[in-house]
Amino acid sequence: MKIEKNLLSDAERKQKPQQVEDLSFGSVFTDHMLTMTYSGGKWHSPRITPYSLLELDPASLVLHYGQGIFEGMKAYRRGNDVFLFRPTQNISRFNRSASRMVMPKMDETFMLEAIEELICIERDWIPSKSGTSLYIRPTMIATERKLGVKPSDEYIFFIILSPVGPYFKEGFKPIRIMIAESYARAAPGGVGAAKTIGNYAASLKEEKRAKESGYSQVLWLDACDNKYLEEVGTMNVFVVFEDEIATPELGGTILPGITRDSVITLLRNWDMDVVERKISVDEVLAGVQDGHLTEMFGCGTAAIIAPIGVLGYQRKEYPISNGRIGNVTKRLYDELTGIQSGERKDNYGWVHSVC
Ligand SMILES: Cc1ncc(COP(=O)(O)O)c(C=O)c1O
Repeated sequence: MKIEKNLLSDAERKQKPQQVEDLSFGSVFTDHMLTMTYSGGKWHSPRITPYSLLELDPASLVLHYGQGIFEGMKAYRRGNDVFLFRPTQNISRFNRSASRMVMPKMDETFMLEAIEELICIERDWIPSKSGTSLYIRPTMIATERKLGVKPSDEYIFFIILSPVGPYFKEGFKPIRIMIAESYARAAPGGVGAAKTIGNYAASLKEEKRAKESGYSQVLWLDACDNKYLEEVGTMNVFVVFEDEIATPELGGTILPGITRDSVITLLRNWDMDVVERKISVDEVLAGVQDGHLTEMFGCGTAAIIAPIGVLGYQRKEYPISNGRIGNVTKRLYDELTGIQSGERKDNYGWVHSVC
């Protein structure tokens, strides 16, 4: 499919932010966006146009029943070259989310080409300082005009881009995490493994309580027993014990993170014992208290690796690694950011050159 283009002249383009790292994450957008329409049983009319408001019927199904999915990925600049990190993983996860939400799949080759074409047009927006990147948000929403719960017959797919600095205002410093007590994020058989919009709405109430209590994000526990670790806000979680490194297994209630997969691959290549299993909150708190738990960190595209310095649970605080960044956490951060910035060799074929 050929992508139609209606681009702004140089004079019409926006001023780019001088200090991306000072901006709050995802608050500035580039000059153009890509849009594509699904109707009559097929995707058509891909176009790159100036970034603008969407025109939506107020009865659009997404607004009432939440049939919407998205992805989050990053483009990095290395000198004059632009590249993506494991983009095909995001694209196949997008299609898995589409399948769970009864939405039409994308042609994966075309979706990668579309992302690349938009990024190349907006390449001057990609910041170059260490810790910065261009965040890419492919999204699909149900647009059929209908009040009635059903899969939509019409959709739009769009991609917007945002130059970003670090996700947490703290930067690469230990963050404070609150363990959820009152609510769960996702239940077995539900949509927790899909990157669908409602999952994030469901998380807001507990996230609000966490922020008000001085924490950055919520560590979710499972919905059945309120006992086993699930994931942290927009990150998967790893616990470093003296004798093994553990991460919650993928059971359909958490997002299969691409950073999680990269972390597991790196650890195994370093001959470290990493297991995917159930981890109870009691095991974690006991490990903190007897020193058997040495580090804990979250990982995701936005934050990459985020050391966890404090866990808050039932009005008590549990400091981890004495508030310092542990060796495993630091080694993973250095390796992943090193591969992404080109400073370290990519032995895994993760870096995808764009333009
Ligand atoms: C709920 C949730 N879990 C985990 C992750 C981490 O996934 P990834 O490493 O693919 O960014 C994200 C971020 O996309 C997320 O939103």
